[in-house]
Amino acid sequence: MIRIRDLWQIVRIAGPFGFWRLLRHSRSLKQTTGRFLVQHALFALDRVGLVDSLLSDGGLDVASKPELDSSMLLAVCEYLYENRLLERMSPTRFQARNRSEFRAMLRCMYASFAYGQPLGALDKLLTGQWKYGRDVVRDGKYDAMASADLTSLFSYGFSASVLRTTGARSVLDLGCGTGGFLDYLRDHGFSGALYGLDLSEDAIDEGIRHGAEARGVELHVGDLFEVANYRSDLQEGKLDVLSLMFVLHEFEDGAVMDMLRRIGREFPGTSVLLTELPARSSDEIRNARRTVFPELKFVHEISGQILRTRDQWKDLFERSGFTLRAERANELTNQLCMFFASIEST
Ligand SMILES: C[S@@+](CC[C@H](N)C(=O)[O-])C[C@H]1O[C@@H](n2cnc3c(N)ncnc32)[C@H](O)[C@@H]1O
Repeated sequence: MIRIRDLWQIVRIAGPFGFWRLLRHSRSLKQTTGRFLVQHALFALDRVGLVDSLLSDGGLDVASKPELDSSMLLAVCEYLYENRLLERMSPTRFQARNRSEFRAMLRCMYASFAYGQPLGALDKLLTGQWKYGRDVVRDGKYDAMASADLTSLFSYGFSASVLRTTGARSVLDLGCGTGGFLDYLRDHGFSGALYGLDLSEDAIDEGIRHGAEARGVELHVGDLFEVANYRSDLQEGKLDVLSLMFVLHEFEDGAVMDMLRRIGREFPGTSVLLTELPARSSDEIRNARRTVFPELKFVHEISGQILRTRDQWKDLFERSGFTLRAERANELTNQLCMFFASIEST
């Protein structure tokens, strides 16, 4: 309850302008540090494996964790309780207040912490003391999960709609993350062979943990530059399509062309389905208000990822022996899907 007497006292001591500044400053402080602290608290709970207990019917009893510092854990839980993310069942027992909201917060935390390491070392990256890729990298598992969260909402359906027009019967998704696109294809009536390859062991483990095998989706850990080495693990015979969804922008032009030429040699007749965020100018992004593009562009740039325009992609593929057969773009969601056939097979 706000007491009029207290309000009056603030106005009298700070003055009306000071009162307004105090209000404004506390609100910004709450917004900025609040988000930061909640994210760190969730990150810590996830790292020490307490998230499932908080989401369970019985909740988490702080007293039942003698291996952890109880006053620290109580501080974390009380903070989340005060911010209405947790309910307090007893003085030491806490539970997620709204499970779906809590899960959604966790997913946002994964997205933030995917780039937690490079962001924490931004000063070193700015001074050139450290180099991204050599001294610091993003978290592969969190990145794959955050990527899948966003792409599953539209990109999977978007790229599947282009894939459907090609009559493909087998797909290998390179840089598949947790295998979400392949799961989507299976769940939406694709009956052919589905394979995925990703460098991140954590991401592949996560996909397997979520039942990829039961859906007939085969996931492998490996480097897409060495994809020919995994050919024996793949279906005998021809592979129709190699999908590259939000992965080729990780590499410089020379590496992309080298990789595409290898695909042309090692998988003759196989087509490539490319899904990417096309490059947009800062002014365009600034005008697309309330979107996540500025955040996406920023993390891409600090981690040496290269967003290219549609024409730059077309040019790279053509110089590597592929020809554009179909394409679809959506400017609202800022994405591009291009289907290329190798020149020998046209
Ligand atoms: C932004 S995520 C995209 C994941 C997934 N394709 C999607 O759209 O949700 C990029 C993925 O590429 C993988 N990746 C990066 N370099 C790779 C490489 N050389 N070989 C295989 N996978 C790689 C990363 O591990 C990560 O899972």
